[in-house]
Amino acid sequence: MPPATATVLTLPLEDKTRPSIRAKALLFADPSSQALLAQAERVAPSDAPVLICGETGTGKELLARHLHELSGRRGPFIAVNCGAISETLAESEFFGHEAGAFTGAAGRREGWFEAANGGTLFLDEVGDLPLALQVKLLRVLQEREVVRLGARRPIPLDIRLVSATNVDLAEAVAAGHFRLDLLYRLNIVALRLPPLRERTGDILPLARHFLSHYGQRLGAPRPQLSAAAESILLGYAWPGNIRELENSLHCALLTADHGLIEPRHLSLRGVVAGRAAEPAAVPVGWPGLTEQLAELIASAEPDVHQRVERLLIEQGLSASRGNQVQAAARLGLTRHVLRTLMKRHGLLPSPTVAFHKEPQWNTARLVRPASRSA
Ligand SMILES: Nc1ncnc2c1ncn2[C@@H]1O[C@H](COP(=O)(O)OP(=O)(O)OP(=O)(O)O)[C@@H](O)[C@H]1O
Ligand SMILES: [Mg+2]
Repeated sequence: MPPATATVLTLPLEDKTRPSIRAKALLFADPSSQALLAQAERVAPSDAPVLICGETGTGKELLARHLHELSGRRGPFIAVNCGAISETLAESEFFGHEAGAFTGAAGRREGWFEAANGGTLFLDEVGDLPLALQVKLLRVLQEREVVRLGARRPIPLDIRLVSATNVDLAEAVAAGHFRLDLLYRLNIVALRLPPLRERTGDILPLARHFLSHYGQRLGAPRPQLSAAAESILLGYAWPGNIRELENSLHCALLTADHGLIEPRHLSLRGVVAGRAAEPAAVPVGWPGLTEQLAELIASAEPDVHQRVERLLIEQGLSASRGNQVQAAARLGLTRHVLRTLMKRHGLLPSPTVAFHKEPQWNTARLVRPASRSA
């Protein structure tokens, strides 16, 4: 059970909840989480657009749903994953269309804006919106009305916009991937969900909360954490944040005898034989690679971060022969994040993309092959 000082909010509307959201409750115990919750609850009733920033698995979508619950809006909560939008269909998905607006548009259809009218439109991974669509979105937000493709009559909108991102949108603006004017529109209120390693006061209450939740489901009524397991949980860096904590405790419960969780039941990346590896979980560099990166940065090559990120994804996919599940595991990412990055770099499989051929960069050294650098 969570301690008395933790705030636990029961989530309603299970049927409207996506399968990826498995929590039955939101829990806030660390003082920074409680402050964030108070801030969210203050802004919830207004219709100011909110931008939620945070690493993967920190609870951005749960917070967005909570904002909607507290907004008093009667309309629905519509979640759109901007990282998974097909560019060709995006416009009709967002704005709707009339019959015959384009080839294949048999009947009329309302878009996401209309569907969310009177409620909340949640733009998840908003940093992945294609630039062309960003312009159109901005226009709709400014005009507060939408025109279906193939129609003339504008439809007035009354929508609360909540967006989420796990990338720094200011950096995306600087890199030319995101429009500054749209950013200004989205982040009238900015809520930052800190990574779990920065709110360690949440770790054990959340762990006990997940244990009790999964314990009930698995028929293990009062699962406990040993003192050694608690100290592993507290010392771990949690790159996958709350989702990783939840998964690892669920998995631990399946393997633990008599509901007592010991370090050996916790399968955490970089933690060996029940002891946090030194340095903890996320390595900071490798001999050789670190020097090459330093050289590359010093050479003032453009877009270094983008290109190294792309190379890493390409190599992960190549080593896994294009298998995304394996590549994600090798790279220490969730498949969801891997696919988002693949989309960003134009690497989602299509007849024109081959992962094993012609990596853009020479992998032995992080520089362009000589033939391409001219
Ligand atoms: N405050 C919380 N209390 C209880 N469970 C939580 C909390 N925050 C997150 N979770 C759990 O973590 C999981 C991930 O939450 P959510 O999907 O909202 O994260 P996210 O930040 O949107 O992740 P991503 O960036 O990968 O989409 C949820 O299914 C839920 O089980
Ligand atoms: Mg999410």
